[in-house]
Parts: sequence; structure tokens; C-alpha cells
Amino acid sequence: MKRTHHCNELRPKHIGQTVSLSGWVHSRRDLGGVIFIDVRDREGRTQAVFDPSHLSAKVFERAAGLRSESVIRVGGAVRQRPDGTVNPKISTGEVEVLVQDLEVLNLADPLPFQIDDPESAAKVNEELRLKYRYLDLRRGDMARNLRLRHAVATATRAYFDEHGFLEIETPMLFKSTPEGAREFLVPCRTNPGLFYALPQSPQQFKQILMVAGIERYFQLAKCFRDEDLRADRQPEFTQIDIEMSFIDREDIYATIEGLLSRIWKRALNRDLATPFRRLPFREALDRFGSDKPDLRFGLELEDFTEAFRASEFKVFSDAVKAGGVVKAINAKGLAGVTQGQMEAMTQIAKDSGAKGLAFIKVENGEWKAPMVKFFTDAEKTLLRQKLDIEEGDLILFAAGEWLMACEILGRIRLYAATVLEAQDKLTIPSDRFEFLWVVDFPLLSFDKEQNRWYSSHHPFTAPVAEDIPFLTTDPRKVRGQHYDVVVNGVELGGGSIRIHQPAVQKKVFEDVLQIPPEIAQARFGYMLEAFRYGAPPHGGIALGFDRLVAMLCGTPSIRDVIAFPKTAKGTCLMTDSPGTADLKQLRDLYLELKIPSEE
Ligand code: AMO
Ligand code: AMP
Repeated sequence: MKRTHHCNELRPKHIGQTVSLSGWVHSRRDLGGVIFIDVRDREGRTQAVFDPSHLSAKVFERAAGLRSESVIRVGGAVRQRPDGTVNPKISTGEVEVLVQDLEVLNLADPLPFQIDDPESAAKVNEELRLKYRYLDLRRGDMARNLRLRHAVATATRAYFDEHGFLEIETPMLFKSTPEGAREFLVPCRTNPGLFYALPQSPQQFKQILMVAGIERYFQLAKCFRDEDLRADRQPEFTQIDIEMSFIDREDIYATIEGLLSRIWKRALNRDLATPFRRLPFREALDRFGSDKPDLRFGLELEDFTEAFRASEFKVFSDAVKAGGVVKAINAKGLAGVTQGQMEAMTQIAKDSGAKGLAFIKVENGEWKAPMVKFFTDAEKTLLRQKLDIEEGDLILFAAGEWLMACEILGRIRLYAATVLEAQDKLTIPSDRFEFLWVVDFPLLSFDKEQNRWYSSHHPFTAPVAEDIPFLTTDPRKVRGQHYDVVVNGVELGGGSIRIHQPAVQKKVFEDVLQIPPEIAQARFGYMLEAFRYGAPPHGGIALGFDRLVAMLCGTPSIRDVIAFPKTAKGTCLMTDSPGTADLKQLRDLYLELKIPSEE
């Protein structure tokens, strides 16, 4: 028997018992002829004492040579720690094991980084952590993250089971799904020249399951998207994927609010206030400059389009004449902004397509900006009132097309908030969760470069019924039955009520999205056909499971809640994937490589 107890189990009531513990050498201290080793396993750690007066010299010597992270089993008697040596930081801190025998189960080489020291762990660079992921996962916070992930998955399954949902797996080898990202292709040996695509989501299968009469489906589903990676994006990630029949939007909201309440209670012992507030897409952009607004702080955008319609300041009046807007934000107390910060904000505006970022610093009772001389008294009064302008403020403007102007100031708002927070002029409480539903998205967005409409969500999203006539006459007007659930500036999930009439779906594919009929038929023919054999009205949603767990763990990076994540370049540093294929494999797949030369 390798253990009688785990390393987080021994308490004063065990004093006098002979026990056996197995685990890793967490730390070793040699003090005046006595060696203390903290033995650690998944549950915690316990101090083992090697005292030469109770041990053979041979065992003592072996203990003295043990390097960190070697795997051992110790046997001995539990005893009270002497006065003054109790360690209140660990749950086993009142007792220790006086070792009688030691079994070395495996020695460890010197480590590429230290595991026992949380300070040093924070400083270890992430590439090293990913290369030695098995060591990284031994660290307390990473192990906690994985446990929480498991607990959330378990609570999710229990919740859906109680509510009559069936968990059904859908294929990984599939074909193109129109979720908007590039896809991973898998060549098919048995069908030369043909490829599977890995699913970006189980979207089509879950809709087909509704046609199949399942009524309530869920899955913790793996999804694959070949997109540019960031802290909150991985090429393979997990969704809590849901689809329901005979429902409307309110049923989805209630189902998800129930699920998230259950999860927050389980993970953080927190009660969520439901129902979540709802914010129309347009208002979210107008007020916060984002379709995933962080509502934990103010700094709202204000509109000055009418005020500057006839302004002497041409940057503004020209933008309005061209059909655009003028919007502004007061970064309260940020007049002392540094040159570098101002440049960073201007770059944000330029990256989003504006020529610049007009601003006013309010210092020594003066509005400092060259453009102020063009402003009339009425314009100044309106600015002062709407933006509550005071000494020490920094006012930033975006003029131009509505969506662009809103998004620029939305990003400026987040940037300014971090700067203000660092200066203690603003608090963004990390333990507050501001959930909301963003609703009333436009069904379609226009792609200027390609001169065509595309789906804001995906092409299966149902238009609001009374807007259907505008699909071909005035697509801009058509609202989609699409919703996103957002918390603290993170898009946690999105979904929609679907089109279930084949004629409407065909019209969206062919007349609105301009997908040639033969391509629509090749890609989605089976769906259009399935819908002709009795498709119930249905809808669903998918939550980003990794993002959800990261939020609960309080980390901004989903890599911290995925056991084996990929780097920003899509590689796995531990296994060195992706790897090469040998010629025979390629030949079997009828593939040939043409890789451009380096220069
Ligand atoms: P959507 O594309 O909005 O919807 O995805 C749903 C949620 O999945 C998460 N997510 C990601 N998480 C990590 N890495 C990624 N690369 C990544 N991409 C998306 C986000 C997002 O909100 N089939 C539809 C859902 C539906 O209509 O029911 C879909 O996939 O949190
Ligand atoms: P100009 O008259 O071109 O020197 O511009 C005056 C100010 O307006 C500069 O500070 C520019 O950065 C700024 N500006 C230019 N275009 C925009 C825009 N679309 N929105 C807001 N400010 C702008």
C-alpha cells in the first residue's frame, strides 16, 4: 500500500497513528542535523521529519540527497509539532510525520523552473511553462483552475440533465461551417482529393437534431477555428452548446440565467441577480462603444452630431455632412496624460480608420486644444453640460461613420479606464459581475470591400418576423433574433432563434447573401431538404466554456484554464506539434507540398 492518507488529511486527531504518504518532494530544509521535507500530492502537503536519532544513517543520507519533485513514499508516526513551529498556512500545519522509512519511487532531475515558490512561478515565462506543462500543472493555482473547470463541467451536466436535455456528441470530421473563421482541413485518404473540415461549432448538427425530434440538446463541444489567436482565443476550444425546440428568446434567456446562476453558486458561492439586464445593440454601441460593454464603470460616450452639424471646425462638420456622427468621451481626471499614452490612443483611432483623435485637455481653467478657437459658446456650453467637464479632465472625440466612431471611443474608454485605475482615479471591482444580454442586432452587416451583405451572426439566424419583407428591399433594416450574453466586457456566448422554413433559409442564402444556388445546394442542401420534412421552430446558444472558467478563476488568459493550450502561433511547445508528414503519408493522401521559399 503506497499511502494510508493523502497529504491534506492529517490533523491532531491522527496523532500517534502510523501512516504512509506518497507524493512529491515539495521543499526540503536541512536544519541542524534534522531534515524537513514537505511531501505534496494533489490534495495538499504534509511535513515529514527525518531525525537521525529515529532513522538509520542510510535512510537519512538518502533523504539528504533528494532533489525537489522527486517522488517518494514515507512511513512514520504522526506527532504534534513542537510549540512555535505550527504552520497556520497549511491545513496539516499542526502536525508532522516522524519518518521511520523512506521509499524513493523516482528521482527528479534539476528542474527547468521552481514549482514550490508562487513568486517565482509568476515570473517564469509562459513558453517555458508550456514546454514543461506537466510541471506547470503541478503548481497550486493551475491545479485549482483544472479542478474548477471540472466542477463547472459537472454542474453544467447536472443542470441540463435536470432540465430534460440530452448530451449528444456530433462529428469532428465534418465539412465547412459558416461561422466566419478559417477552417482546419483534413484530407480524406479513402476519397482522394476530398477534405473534411473540423467543425467551427456543431451548429448544423444541433439544428438537424431538432429536426430529428430531440427537442433539448446540449454538449460540451470541441470547436476548431483557424483564426488569429489572442488571450481569449484558441484554435481549439470548448463550448457549452445548446439547442431547443418550440421556444422563443425568453426561454433561452431563462435557461442560460439558470445555468450561470448554478455555476456561480457552485464555483464562487455567489448569487447572481436575474433576470440579466438587456441592452439593444445600438444602445450598447452608442453608450459604451462596444457590443460587449463592461458595465462595471461609467465613462459613457456622448453624441454631439447635431451640435457640430454646422460647426466651423471642419473635421466635425464635414463628418456630419458625410452622414457620420461626432461622439466624445470625458476621461475624467486624465488631463495629465503622458505623450506616450496620447500616442497610444491616437493609434487606436488610426487603426480603426480615423485620421486622428481630437482632444481637449482642461488645465488651469483653460481648454487646451487648437480646435477650441473654432467652437461657439453654445457648442462649448453643450459640451460642458453633457460631459460634465471640470478642471483636470481630458475630452476625446471621434468623428466619422457611426460604427467606426463608436468603436474607436469604446476602445479609448477601455484604455482610459486602465490608465485611470492605475492612478487610483477609478475602480473596476474585480469581484463584481455585470451580466447583460445584448439584443436587437442587425441581421446583416455590409462588407464595403466585397460590396455585399454578410450575416452578423451566422446565416441560420432568423430575422424578426415583421422585418422579413425588407430582406431584399432594405436589408439594413432587418433585425436578427440574435443575442449575446456578456459579462465584464467579455462575450461569453451568443446564439439565435433559427430560420426553420426552407423558403426563408433559401432566400437568405441566395438572394441576400448572394451564395450561388449550386454552392448553397452543395454546402447546405441537406439542411434545406431536412427542413422540408417537418422542422420545428428552434433556437439555441453557445457559451465559450474556456472564457467562462477563466472568468471564474480570475485570469484574463484562457490558456490558464486549458490543460494543453496552443501558443499564439498555434503550436504546442510540449509535443512540438504541428509536425511534418513523411512522403509516404502524403502519397497515401494524394498530396504534394509547394512551400514558398523563405526569402
Ligand atoms: P459564436 O461563434 O458566437 O457562436 O461562439 C460562441 C462562443 O464561443 C466562444 N468562442 C471562443 N472561445 C475561445 N476561442 C475561440 N477561438 C472562440 N471563438 C468563439 C465565445 C463565443 O461567444 N454556433 C454558434 C452558437 C449558436 O448560434 O448557437 C457559435 O458558435 O465565448
Ligand atoms: P486637422 O485639422 O486635420 O489638423 O485635425 C484637427 C484634429 O482633429 C487633430 O487633432 C486630428 O487628430 C483630429 N481628427 C482628425 N480626424 C478626426 C476624426 N475622424 N475624429 C476625431 N478627430 C479627428
